[in-house]
Amino acid sequence: MVDQQNFEKAAERLRSASNLVVITGAGVSAESGVHTFRGKGGLWEEYDVGEVATASALRRDPEKVWKFLLLLREETAKARPNPAHIAIATLEKKIPTVRVITQNIDGLHQAGGSTEVLEIHGNVQTARNEITGKLFSINDLDLTTLPPPCPETGEALRPNVLYFEEQYDSDILTTASTWVRQADVILVVGTSGMVPTPYILAQEGRAAGAFLIDVNLVQNKAPSTWFGGAMDPADLFLQGRAGEVVPRLAEQQ
Ligand code: OAD
Repeated sequence: MVDQQNFEKAAERLRSASNLVVITGAGVSAESGVHTFRGKGGLWEEYDVGEVATASALRRDPEKVWKFLLLLREETAKARPNPAHIAIATLEKKIPTVRVITQNIDGLHQAGGSTEVLEIHGNVQTARNEITGKLFSINDLDLTTLPPPCPETGEALRPNVLYFEEQYDSDILTTASTWVRQADVILVVGTSGMVPTPYILAQEGRAAGAFLIDVNLVQNKAPSTWFGGAMDPADLFLQGRAGEVVPRLAEQQ
C-alpha cells in the first residue's frame, strides 16, 4: 500500500521538476507479462545465469545463449506497454525534460511513447557483429543455425545485450552519467538494485542534487558491501505496483 504522505510528497516533487530521469528495471514490465529476473517466478529461478547470460557462456556455448535470448524475444513480442510505461511517456507533456534509463531489453518504453530512452543492457531485437560493430534486426536474420551468421561478412553474430562479466559501453555510461547529474528528480521503478551500475547511477544523481524516489513492491536493499556501509536507498519509497503508482503520480502533474 502506498503511504499517502510519501505519495503527496513525491507528486509535489514531480510537479516542480524540470528535468526528470526515470531509471527502470524488470519490475516496470512485470505487468506486461515479462518475467523479472530475481525473486519468486524470476528467470534466475529456472535458468542458470552462468549458462545463459555471461560472457563466458557466450564463448563456451553460443547456441545455448542465443536460444535463451530468443525465448526472451518471444515473450517480449507478445508484451504490450502497461499503464506504467504509458504514464512515464505522458510525463513528457508535463515536465520539460524526461529521460528514461532502462535495464530492460524489451523496448516497451519506446512502444509506450517515451522518446529519450537509453537501453543500458541492450535490446532483444538486434544482433551485433563484434568485429564491425554493425547492428542487424533479428527479424532479418536466418536463424536456422545459431549463432546466426552476419549477412555481410558471415561472422557469427552475438545478441546485442550486455552479459554478466562484460563492460558497459563507455558512451552509454557517459550519457547516463550526464543525464542523472542534470536531473532534479530521479524516479526509480521496479528494480532490485542488485546490478550495481544502475543503482550507482541513481546514487550519483542523488549526490549531484536530484531527489530520489523509488517505486517497488518491496523496498530495495542494495548490498552494503559495495560501499563499505549501508546506504540509504532513496529519499522517498513508494510501495506498490508500478502500473498503479506511476499512473497515479502522473495524473497529479
Ligand atoms: P530484478 O528481477 O532483479 O528485480 C525486479 C524488481 O522489480 C524487484 O525489486 C521487484 O520487487 C520489482 N517488481 C516486480 N514486479 C513489480 C511491479 N509490478 N511493480 C513494481 N515493482 C515490481 O530485475 P532488475 O533489477 O531489472 O541484467 O535486474 C537488473 C538486471 O539483472 C537485468 O537487467 C539483467 C538481470 O540479470 C543483465 O542481464 C545484465
